[in-house]
Amino acid sequence: MKSMATACLSRVGDYVLNKVTAELVDYTHNHFRREESSMQHHGYDGLHEHRLEHRKLIAQLDEILFQVASAGQTGISGGIVDQMGQWVTDHIVDCDRRYADFLKAKGIAG
Ligand SMILES: [Fe+2]
Repeated sequence: MKSMATACLSRVGDYVLNKVTAELVDYTHNHFRREESSMQHHGYDGLHEHRLEHRKLIAQLDEILFQVASAGQTGISGGIVDQMGQWVTDHIVDCDRRYADFLKAKGIAG
């Protein structure tokens, strides 16, 4: 049986985890929306493909959010968090890099 202190700490941990996860999802949505808007503004020909990639990441994030909400901090494995970090890193290194190169070639960013 959990002690009162352990139960309280667990609730605080779940609250913090839910809050951080929700903020990550919110930040990601806003970041993707701004990026797609920029791509449209600059006539990026990879917008459609990039947008689909964003939707895939959002779906994966939503899945993690669901797992966090239903399992709490004790039910979340480090592997899930590591996997999410890898998806984001892959996206930045591959997809976002192509857009950065596009902007650079147009003399927009350097
Ligand atoms: Fe992106």
